[in-house]
Formats: sequence, structure tokens, C-alpha cells
Amino acid sequence: MGSADFRLFATDLDGTLLGDAAAAARFKRIWEAEPKGKRPLLCYSSGRLLEDVQEQIANGLLPQPDYIIGGVGTAVYDVAQGQLLTQFTEVLEEGWDRETVEKVLHEIDLPLEKQPEYFQNAFKCSWFLNDATLEQLDRLQAALAETGVATHLVYSSRRHLDILPQGANKGNALRWLLHYLQIPLNAVLVAGDSGNDSAMFRLKGVRGIIPGNAQPELLAEADGMPLYVGPPGEVCAQAVLAGLAHFGVLAVVDERDA
Ligand code: GLC
Ligand code: MG
Repeated sequence: MGSADFRLFATDLDGTLLGDAAAAARFKRIWEAEPKGKRPLLCYSSGRLLEDVQEQIANGLLPQPDYIIGGVGTAVYDVAQGQLLTQFTEVLEEGWDRETVEKVLHEIDLPLEKQPEYFQNAFKCSWFLNDATLEQLDRLQAALAETGVATHLVYSSRRHLDILPQGANKGNALRWLLHYLQIPLNAVLVAGDSGNDSAMFRLKGVRGIIPGNAQPELLAEADGMPLYVGPPGEVCAQAVLAGLAHFGVLAVVDERDA
């Protein structure tokens, strides 16, 4: 498998590229050393809102990506053009009604706490719900379905609950971007560590990298697909680098040997 087979690498940030500062810096160095024409396009896909991701890039720890998918797949941003791809935003509007969603969340009998305003956008309604049971999530899903608003419920790390429009989530946003760029799914590598990443891994044909610190919910969802899974001690960007080497995207040299 040569790097030419991959045209786009979509990676989560927290717990995947970020979390081990030395390894993230090593990723940045190695990625930027690869000539532009030889490496795949780089797309960050984060639960953080777009502006927050841009801040992380501005602080110098991460290389400039080509695209940013922000807010759990609720915004797609073209870095070279310096603009939001608003055609995607139009897709999200279909059948979405944030007010109705909010009402359901406020009224349902569940120990929910709304995430601060900083984490909300027009298409991302985010809450805390600790150690949710399947019964609780099913009950919420049913209450949302009853309103007729088509939603995606994304539960991550036994704490984060996102209610998104049906066209959103990290997988749907990535699928939309790939269609826009005319890149086939089998030319795509994804990386992530938790529940909100599972929709990227479920895209048929993609291959994936999962670091050793990943949440069991993602491992369960990605089971059976072509994966590089880091051993328990290989965390965050350490595993991303090992996975990129495994799939032949980067010839990673161990800098301790250099
Ligand atoms: C990030 C976001 C948070 C979201 C979580 C899971 O932590 O900041 O709002 O709920 O990802 O998607
Ligand atoms: Mg993560």
C-alpha cells in the first residue's frame, strides 16, 4: 500500500492528534516535511467548534490542514479558500428545528445538563449525561422521533451527548466533503478515539487508525474493518504516526534513532 492510494486523511483532534504534546509536535514535523504533492489532503474533524479548532492550529501545535470539519460534523471549512462551505450548511437545515429539540431535552426526565454556550451552534445541541444507559438513550431517541424532527444522537466517552440534524455527524460531513472533492471512500484514511468518530469509521471502504487510549464504544463500532489499532501504551499522535506508517502514508523514522 503506497501513500498514493490515499487521497485524504481525516483525523479527530482531542484524544487522537492532541493529548501527547511531544507526539503531536512530531506529527507536525513529519507531516510538513512530506512534499505537498506526495501526501494526502489533511482534514481535521473535531467535536470542537470551527473557531476553536482554528485557535488550536494558530497556537502552532498542529500543521495547517486543507479542510476542517467542526462541531461534530456541523460545519465544513475550506482552509485555502478561507471560507465555510455553505452548500453543506444548507443540507443541515433540511428537517432541522433546534427549538423543538431543545424543548424535548428540557422536558424529558433524565439527569441532563446543558453544555456551556461556547460548545453550541445552530446545528449542534450539546449536553452532559453521565453513564447513560441504552434505555435512557432509546427513550430520548423516541421522544425526539415523536416530534418529527429528524435527528442524530451521538453519545461519546460516557458523558457527551450531541443532538444533530440528520445530515450532520462526522461521517455524513466527511461523506459530503468527499463527494464535493470527488474522492472515493477507498482513498480515505480516518483516525479517531471516541463515539463521535464512529460515523467516520462506518463509511464503507475507508480504513482507520485507533489509538491505544480509545474508548471501547469506538472499538465496538469499528470491529471488522481494516484498522491499525495502537497497543494500550501507544496513545494519541504516537499511534497516528504508527498507523500512517502501517498504511504506507508516511515513512515514519523513529527520531530516537536519528
Ligand atoms: C467535544 C465538544 C463537545 C461534544 C463532544 C462529543 O468535546 O466540545 O461539545 O459534546 O466533543 O462530540
Ligand atoms: Mg476525540
